[in-house]
Amino acid sequence: MVIRSIVAGVGAYLPARAVTNAELAALVDTSDDWIVQRTGIRKRHLAAEGELTSDLALHAGRAALDAASMSARDLDLVIVATATPDETFPATATRVQAALGMTRGAAFDVQAVCSGFVYALNVADNFIRVGQYKTALVIGAETFSRILDWKDRTTCVLFGDGAGAVALRAAEGEGGKKDRGILSNHIHADGRHHDMLYVDGGPSTTQTAGYLRMQGREVFRHAVTNLSAVIDEALAANGMTAAEIDWLVPHQANQRILESTAKKLDLPPEKVIVTVDQHANTSAASIPLALDSAVRAGKIKRGDVVVLEAMGGGFTWGASVIRW
Ligand code: ACO
Repeated sequence: MVIRSIVAGVGAYLPARAVTNAELAALVDTSDDWIVQRTGIRKRHLAAEGELTSDLALHAGRAALDAASMSARDLDLVIVATATPDETFPATATRVQAALGMTRGAAFDVQAVCSGFVYALNVADNFIRVGQYKTALVIGAETFSRILDWKDRTTCVLFGDGAGAVALRAAEGEGGKKDRGILSNHIHADGRHHDMLYVDGGPSTTQTAGYLRMQGREVFRHAVTNLSAVIDEALAANGMTAAEIDWLVPHQANQRILESTAKKLDLPPEKVIVTVDQHANTSAASIPLALDSAVRAGKIKRGDVVVLEAMGGGFTWGASVIRW
């Protein structure tokens, strides 16, 4: 008998204001055609003035708890995956914890940029597997609009704000791949690639939040290689083949990265959940946003094998295998 983390509920939140590619073309030298062809992105949502990462996280967290029929009183742990915290400290998760009315348990942030959700899920799953906690709320929430250089067309068209969350609950399993719940997590980092994707500020360097800088083509190249490698690793760890994947739920960075990764796995495109067109790259929020849309559309069903994958600044990357 082993302990597994079951995904008991999923929730998501997008800020009200949606900005189309055409609207961005009025700001920088770009076009709807260029953005759609190179990225698949059609619009992104931007947080309202005064709307913070913790506000987005709270909406998504509450929705996940509702979907799981859980209350904040049931929660042992809140983790917020974010690279755009409300403040340098304390953790955005503690603001969410307070807003949920949760006065016990633990709350902290995980920072692995676009891989943040997979990292945070791994951390929460470990707490549950060792028996330290019975429940956890894992949220990915970002306000990347606040760290974009709105004069740089090579980056500002690519990102958006949003949040998504999953509520986890401990359950007993047999220990094999037929169990329900998170079957395995695989996370990696290679800090030598710092300069390819980073923010040129921070409390210890410039005492400002800074702006996102990226060598897009290099990121693209590494993304496809690292993502296919970590998916292979995740499948092998569970004695599975790609044919057993019911749904691939990738970090939503770029339609072309999603297509290239699926092609490397020989996975039919209809098994890949795509939401990047609707909200652009929302970093740590994108996987739970995609999960939420797939669950609500009735695609992901109990018993399905769901593979999550992400790569982001650092570089960091990872994958999780879940039997829903
Ligand atoms: N509108 C119009 N033209 C543009 C824009 C824009 N928004 N941005 C760049 N261009 C121009 C460039 O200036 C360049 O012009 P030039 O040929 O005259 O010099 C031309 O378009 C081609 O630029 P490239 O950077 O070579 O274009 P590429 O095909 O590589 O596409 C992109 C760029 C979309 C950024 C791509 O490299 C990419 O998606 N990379 C991955 C980045 C990513 O997803 N990062 C997210 C974080 S990490 C992650 O989530 C995996």
